Amino acid sequence: MICFAALLTFVLAGHALAFPAHGSLAGLSADELARVLPTLKRAIPSPPPGPMNDTSAKAVNTPVNSWLPLADGDIRGPCPGLNTLASHGYLPRNGIATPAQIVDAVQEGFNMGNDIAIFVTYAAMLVDGNLVTNLLSIGGKSSLTGTDPPAPAIVGGLNTHAVFEGDASTTRADAFFGDNHSFNESLFQELVSFSNKFGAGNYNLSVAAQFRFQRIQDSIATNPTFSFVSPRYYTAYAESVFPTVFFVDGRVANGQLSMDVARGFFQNMSMPPGFFRTNKSAGLSAIATGIGQVFLPHPIEPGSNQGAVNTYEVNPNSADFTNFCKLYTDFVNNTVKGLYPNPTGDLLNALNANLGFFFQPLAGQGCAQVFPFGQPS
Ligand code: HEM
Repeated sequence: MICFAALLTFVLAGHALAFPAHGSLAGLSADELARVLPTLKRAIPSPPPGPMNDTSAKAVNTPVNSWLPLADGDIRGPCPGLNTLASHGYLPRNGIATPAQIVDAVQEGFNMGNDIAIFVTYAAMLVDGNLVTNLLSIGGKSSLTGTDPPAPAIVGGLNTHAVFEGDASTTRADAFFGDNHSFNESLFQELVSFSNKFGAGNYNLSVAAQFRFQRIQDSIATNPTFSFVSPRYYTAYAESVFPTVFFVDGRVANGQLSMDVARGFFQNMSMPPGFFRTNKSAGLSAIATGIGQVFLPHPIEPGSNQGAVNTYEVNPNSADFTNFCKLYTDFVNNTVKGLYPNPTGDLLNALNANLGFFFQPLAGQGCAQVFPFGQPS
């Protein structure tokens, strides 16, 4: 695995540098930040878009938003939802977007609720985005250009492991096995067989409950580094629910996802012909209801393996489903603060702005705002 900080130090040493505008600044040392920040064009983040007025089902695979194959350099990553939105032009097709573009796209293309759209997008932006240029890569590898010799590709954006992306995914392997973001046919075949066994051929919440449990058991038994603590704990369950809501045609909206349509989204990043988005905005409360149905048949507490397979231990310090606000406070105080220990200037301002946006949907959940970098003036 490439150590990003070491690579950056190497390529910065005496070479002209073009740090990608979407490259994440998370985890860079003060020295690295001092070299990179002056090369970036600062953008002021605009507040997140509000809810849509029209949240009815409607055709979203239209001529204007038709699927196109990838062009050279287009970035895709571990999220089939965002990959699809980029391949249909709801997001910039190159896979690099502002958070506001992502919120707009998930609302317009899939009818995702404004609260969860903001929550997930700004969580990702805070740990995987470039806060100064206000850009986030929805996946993949980007290169440092202008280096001599040419620098190898670096991991960035949503592919970054263990801050947002995590283990026990539905159709992507654990980072431990080398590729945490590409569609994995073997895992998809397992999904097919579970859908046959528990869903009469369709993926639904009953299948999701069994398959989520199976993916966790599989990681416990095969991945010595398996980690299943917050925030991954939450996102894993939420992502098990998403396909039953967002990948099912809104004229039916019965929570039953056929395997053909599933493959279209998960692998080909494409909506079926004539696809309608779901028939009402699905936000935090709708997804939480689905999570309950996935979790309860096989309740697993957050935890991790201890450096060897089959050594899963519960971590009582992790947020779990009994304390949603702890997900927020731990993410901000530990994850974000850990990646940015001493930000100053434009970076500090951008962090505070994005933390404020991230908190918006939490206010409605009764959580108190926290300020890891002090109250902005
Ligand atoms: C709102 C902004 C969103 C962000 C920032 C985001 C980000 C991510 C990330 C980082 C992952 C990888 C997690 C992992 O498996 O390790 C992921 C997975 C996933 N996302 Fe998204 N996502 C967003 C919206 C959506 C939407 C709108 C949908 C559905 C239409 C969706 C469906 C999924 C699914 C089904 C997975 C699981 C993939 C798998 O495990 O095979 N996401 N997302």
